[in-house]
Amino acid sequence: MRVHVADHPLITHKLTVLRDERTPSAVFRQLTEELVTLLAYEATRGVRVEEVDIRTPVTETRGVRIATPRPIVVPILRAGLGMLEGMVKLIPTAEVGFLGMVRNEETLEPSTYAERLPDDLSDRQCFVLDPMLATGGSLGAAIDFLFARGAQDVTAICLLAAPEGVEAIHQQVGDRDVTLVLGSLDERLNEKGYIVPGLGDAGDRLYGTV
Ligand code: PRP
Ligand code: URA
Repeated sequence: MRVHVADHPLITHKLTVLRDERTPSAVFRQLTEELVTLLAYEATRGVRVEEVDIRTPVTETRGVRIATPRPIVVPILRAGLGMLEGMVKLIPTAEVGFLGMVRNEETLEPSTYAERLPDDLSDRQCFVLDPMLATGGSLGAAIDFLFARGAQDVTAICLLAAPEGVEAIHQQVGDRDVTLVLGSLDERLNEKGYIVPGLGDAGDRLYGTV
């Protein structure tokens, strides 16, 4: 498993505003979208391309385009939905599938309540979007789900992660091709399974509801 933690002042600046409890939902949503686009630049470094011949106004030349089968972007509802626009802005030709997951706030166990994905993900590169990697239960279940459908590789983009969650994913994925691209690796989880210092409940902060 590869782990890439962003190291860029613009990302840290935007994350600081996102963490601030005074930041209203509208700004939170805007920043989430901007952060995803910045992280997606790193996350798509390994996206498969194929060569293509084109003609510029000056001459013929050879370039590349995103290969088929096209990558699939999978936001984990609800909070991952806030990351979708920022991602598809960068890869507009990607397909989008959805996984709805919620973790039980007592047991911290995730359960899946919605799924809208192709049955066959053979040879597909998958990009999972979830702002928070806390215990790793939700992301781990999503990764298992995608590989069970034949995914070739999975890259997860998370704004914040706890070391406990990263370690749990590491133990779980074995030698499968998984990459984590993180905006920040925070200090720890607290006794309620929240990331510290974190930003609170990402879904509530994005959508202002419970
Ligand atoms: C949050 C978050 C992740 C999950 C992380 O979702 O968006 O999906 O918790 O926690 P974990 O790593 O311990 O599984 P939540 O279950 O609160 O649902 P929501 O997106 O609908 O708010
Ligand atoms: N889910 C969140 O939204 N925030 C956390 O800190 C942990 C899980």
